[in-house]
Amino acid sequence: MEKISNYNKYLSYKSGRLKIENIFLDDIALKYGTPTFCYSVNQIKDNLYKLKNSFSKIKPLICYAMKANFNKGIVKLMSKNNLGVDVVSKGELRESLECGIKNNKIVFSGVGKTDEEINFALKNNIKQINVESEEELEEIGNQAKSLKRKINISLRVNPNVDALTHDKISTGRSEDKFGISEEKVEKVFRYHKENRYLNINGLSIHIGSQICKIEPFRKAFKKIRNLVLSLKKKNILIDSLDIGGGIGIIYDVNKDKIFKISDYAILVEENFADLGVEIIIEPGRFLVGASGILISKVIRVKKGEKKDFLIVDAGMNNLLRPSLYNSKHSIFPVKAGDKKIEYDIVGPICETSDIFRKSYLLSKQEKNNLIIICSVGAYGSSMSSDYNLRGLANEILVDGNKIL
Ligand code: LLP
Repeated sequence: MEKISNYNKYLSYKSGRLKIENIFLDDIALKYGTPTFCYSVNQIKDNLYKLKNSFSKIKPLICYAMKANFNKGIVKLMSKNNLGVDVVSKGELRESLECGIKNNKIVFSGVGKTDEEINFALKNNIKQINVESEEELEEIGNQAKSLKRKINISLRVNPNVDALTHDKISTGRSEDKFGISEEKVEKVFRYHKENRYLNINGLSIHIGSQICKIEPFRKAFKKIRNLVLSLKKKNILIDSLDIGGGIGIIYDVNKDKIFKISDYAILVEENFADLGVEIIIEPGRFLVGASGILISKVIRVKKGEKKDFLIVDAGMNNLLRPSLYNSKHSIFPVKAGDKKIEYDIVGPICETSDIFRKSYLLSKQEKNNLIIICSVGAYGSSMSSDYNLRGLANEILVDGNKIL
């Protein structure tokens, strides 16, 4: 059943008006305008506690993948909850430090770190750099030597596992640009053994995002476990494993089925608890995805040949996912009403791909009504742009009856 609380526990209708936590959305729209991204602090906390509490044998270091949402309020919330972060640029690294994340909990990932970014990471003494190629490691080795800074290195392994997700966000197949093949790992360890500024002590993987089936994780974890054991036999000791992010969330209650987070935790523990190594996980979407909604106003209803277009003031510049990945976010009216009219819900941008939903049932809408697009907390605002010079949407956090 399409209940709004299936998407975010803190969304509910009261006397026909939609609220998030204790604040009515029409009031938010009046005060902050539209489109506005709005995040429920308690939904983020719930996700975090759910993840943490699923583990019973190990206590993984959770490094929030801040590319999912780098809103400062959210990064500060992660910091207050003692999380680390997974960053992919100098900008993210700088912001995470500003938001109070400890440098010894920062992991730097990414296939194309520049010399300047490597330099910045070394100078800030971060926890580790996840290295994606022999060429990158060579460059880090040279810089570390000249700066006389020792750095932990985790080699990102490409396990050649299909994450069974959208093609554009699959990252663990051998043809993808990410990581080093399993076969090369031993050679890389041996080659850099003499560089005393490189402490190659970890392996990492990340096979993709919005993964809904547990099988790909099972395959990838097994491979990485076997790799740790076979390296150990050759006297190469790994003491840290970064198993990436990728946990999927529900976008459409009627269609999406996702494994239970407790099953994920069991799988992690089955594969790694006995190895006695540190486990790092890098969830992005799981922590913040469901927390966010995008409030948008109906510009007008346009009568079409076959159906009506609901033209709203949010566009693909605010939320790119539907255009880029064909993702289907649920949409609800802010004023309660029975779903009875089929609309194509579209943005104002001059591209046919600027469409959120096709033939979507909604209560009858008119100019100036408000709607919300659900599950936009991850890769919503962080992927937005100023295309058409429309300006960026406002962003607020709601905690109970407070707006932060
Ligand atoms: N770690 C690494 C190395 C990553 O590349 C990513 C995401 C994550 C962790 C976090 O993954 P998550 O837990 O959020 O799935 N823009 C796309 C998603 C791209 C994900 C890129 N990497 C989307 O809107 O679906």
